[in-house]
Amino acid sequence: MAPRWCFALLLLLCAAAGADASKGKWDPVIRMPGEEEPATGDNSSEEGEDGVGTRWAVLVAGSSGYGNYRHQADICHAYQILRKGGVKEENIVVFMYDDIANNPLNPRPGVIINHPEGEDVYAGVPKDYTGEAVTAKNFYAVLLGNKTAVTGGSKKVIDSKPNDHIFIYYSDHGGPGVLGMPNLPYLYAADFIKVLQEKHASNTYAKMVRLPIVTCLW
Ligand SMILES: *[C@@H]1O[C@H](CO)[C@@H](O)[C@H](O)[C@H]1NC(C)=O
Ligand SMILES: *[C@@H]1O[C@H](CO)[C@@H](O)[C@H](O)[C@H]1NC(C)=O
Repeated sequence: MAPRWCFALLLLLCAAAGADASKGKWDPVIRMPGEEEPATGDNSSEEGEDGVGTRWAVLVAGSSGYGNYRHQADICHAYQILRKGGVKEENIVVFMYDDIANNPLNPRPGVIINHPEGEDVYAGVPKDYTGEAVTAKNFYAVLLGNKTAVTGGSKKVIDSKPNDHIFIYYSDHGGPGVLGMPNLPYLYAADFIKVLQEKHASNTYAKMVRLPIVTCLW
């Protein structure tokens, strides 16, 4: 097999927008999605008990196959952490091929762990977009909150309002300007940026946190 270009990257960006969107400010503080945010001047969210609107998350495992176990395990684990942090299931959209838990190679059928002594992280994870539905196109449609553009899957989308926060977590291999997807085409930086710009222009979120983890060991 041709050598792959691999890298490990942990990048956490907080893009402050919404109330601050017009000013294009960047939030200098890195916070996890479950964490409290300091009160801001804007308090006008309909949903917001705490004034920050609804927290949404999109979790994407960009691979398939038992050899890539950890990507889907990461996504399942992230789901459990978000739920413990108070994010509602209806506000978390999960993309994973879903060929791990019941894979014949899995020594613990029906279970996915993310640590040798870890607990099952698979139970309860919603199967929003699995198998053939794990596509870049669906990912973009979900982010943009466009149900009609979605093919297959649960049709759950990010139906966000101006004060809402959106957390994006992606786990898989990648290269410069490209992230893997289990179904082609891959996720290309230029397309993704266009979608983020469109999302931004639609003024449907206050804050977007992207946490792409791209790992490769060979
Ligand atoms: C937010 O709203 C609450 C009640 O709706 C109000 O008491 C509080 O002063 C507001 N906070 C800010 C920072 O505007
Ligand atoms: C949603 O997607 C459909 C199909 O791709 C497209 O025709 C429509 O314009 C999109 N809606 C919005 C609001 O972008």
